[in-house]
Amino acid sequence: MNHLIAPSILAADFANLQRDLEMINQSDADWVHVDIMDGMFVPNISFGFPVVAATKKHATKPLDVHLMIVDPDRYLKAFKDAGADGMTVHYEACPHLHRTIQAIKELGCRAGVALNPHTPVALLEDIIADLDMVLIMSVNPGFGGQKFIANTYKKLNDLKELSRERNPNLLIEVDGGVDQSNIEKLLQAGANVLVAGSSVFSSASPAAAIHNLKHP
Ligand code: DX5
Ligand code: ZN
Repeated sequence: MNHLIAPSILAADFANLQRDLEMINQSDADWVHVDIMDGMFVPNISFGFPVVAATKKHATKPLDVHLMIVDPDRYLKAFKDAGADGMTVHYEACPHLHRTIQAIKELGCRAGVALNPHTPVALLEDIIADLDMVLIMSVNPGFGGQKFIANTYKKLNDLKELSRERNPNLLIEVDGGVDQSNIEKLLQAGANVLVAGSSVFSSASPAAAIHNLKHP
């Protein structure tokens, strides 16, 4: 498949969110990546339901909602109602992951699981067949603009192997420190959905940066 690009609005200008979303609408982006942080699972707080609903109002592309929150089951319906098209929960935040994944699917959303940098891909062996997507964190979640962790390539290779055996249609997303310098190697290692925050929004032309990630 052709890879997908999901710009992260965590790096957008929140005072000009409509403008930045219109840029994404007009660009080669495929999804809008929406980072939810609760100050508990990660040491930072981003934004909540009103901002997701406002984003939905202006975005023409699907919202890819990344839930960096404890006990996400409490809020799945509320994020769906706010406009989520896909929801990704963290392996480390879900003691009953199978139940959480079924709940996301019952809401009619694409269901994903994210792995922190220290969490091995092998832990997904018994759930991978139920997933639409796995998100490999290539930084520690909580902040944009961090340095890419090189062990990500090894994890992508492990995941590509597991996906080949058990779920060939799996989407494989990478999030954190993605830019023009590593995208080709990430694609080769098996990534097919690339999230990019600061490399897009700190660029002089964010739309050109998205184009360059889509056509590396
Ligand atoms: C980090 C978030 C990322 C973040 C990526 O916790 O999950 O989606 O926005 O930002 P960059 O691309 O700047 O590393
Ligand atoms: Zn994210």
